[in-house]
Amino acid sequence: MRFQRILVVGAGQMGAGIAQVAAQAGREVWLRDLEQRLVDRGLATIERNLSRDVEKGRKTPEEKEAILGRIHPTLDLAPAGECDLVIEAIVEDLAAKQALFRELDRIAPPGVVFASNTSSLPITRLAAVTSRPDRFIGMHFMNPVPVMKLVEIIRGLATSQETYEAVAALAVEMGKTPVEVRDFPGFVSNRVLMPMLNEAMFAVYEGVASVEAVDTVMKLGMNHPMGPLELADFIGLDTCLAILNVLYEGFRDPKYRPCPLLVQLVQAGYLGRKTGRGFYTYTPDGQKIPLRRDAL
Ligand SMILES: NC(=O)c1ccc[n+]([C@@H]2O[C@H](COP(=O)([O-])OP(=O)(O)OC[C@H]3O[C@@H](n4cnc5c(N)ncnc54)[C@H](O)[C@@H]3O)[C@@H](O)[C@H]2O)c1
Repeated sequence: MRFQRILVVGAGQMGAGIAQVAAQAGREVWLRDLEQRLVDRGLATIERNLSRDVEKGRKTPEEKEAILGRIHPTLDLAPAGECDLVIEAIVEDLAAKQALFRELDRIAPPGVVFASNTSSLPITRLAAVTSRPDRFIGMHFMNPVPVMKLVEIIRGLATSQETYEAVAALAVEMGKTPVEVRDFPGFVSNRVLMPMLNEAMFAVYEGVASVEAVDTVMKLGMNHPMGPLELADFIGLDTCLAILNVLYEGFRDPKYRPCPLLVQLVQAGYLGRKTGRGFYTYTPDGQKIPLRRDAL
């Protein structure tokens, strides 16, 4: 089994990056979102990433054009009928993903493999709404996809060895390092990362230190390239909250309870970088102003 034609569903931060690395690996790619402006935004991100690579001498202008030429925008799911792999990267919402996979299952021939880029939802549960749980797998890329080397490959209860091997081989061809993980809440990456981000939020919430102070401690003291609150903004606070809820409900362990400050920011629509405001406010001239706890 070797994948040549790939449908990526969702053209947000992750879907656009996945489409880019798939096209860089020589695959024909269809990139689907719900509205033209969302597909266009994804394509613009890819174009910007590739232009930067050309400026830095990492790619030739011809390579850039060839990669872009392999990415086909679409607003419907019909290409699932022509592809051999579908990679889903829509919102982190179980019901939305299940509805999508039910629809894809009707359109795609039985041999087509389905992969989900979910950060935390059970692969086995998503696979169960389809008629092909043996050809269903988790393919968890890291953000930003073109830069980060890791792909967690999550085997659902019924995922076949053939599916696992083909998807791991594709990840290698995309220039990534696949790591095999079993299907438990948060997999490995978010089971370890999210409690750390949540604890940083509690430190702010309880008045232990300011947003900037917490980030500085982790950057200078632990040599992290980004502070935990900056990182949470980068991931998206809605995504962080969704993942913490999956951990909390999946393990029924109070240590994963989401910080009330995170819940409140999400309720206010402060979702981090993507909305210009989260633990920091991001101004158009590139400044980053930390949230003041006493201002809440
Ligand atoms: N942001 C991260 O750091 C990160 C890292 C790894 C995995 N993930 C996971 O990747 C997925 C996407 O996250 P994101 O950060 O790209 O989110 P995002 O909000 O940037 O993008 C999601 C996109 O999906 C689109 N969408 C929603 N329903 C759709 C449908 N039925 N068909 C097509 N498009 C649809 C939305 O319009 C939006 O453009 C989530 O499952 C998330 O947990 C995110």
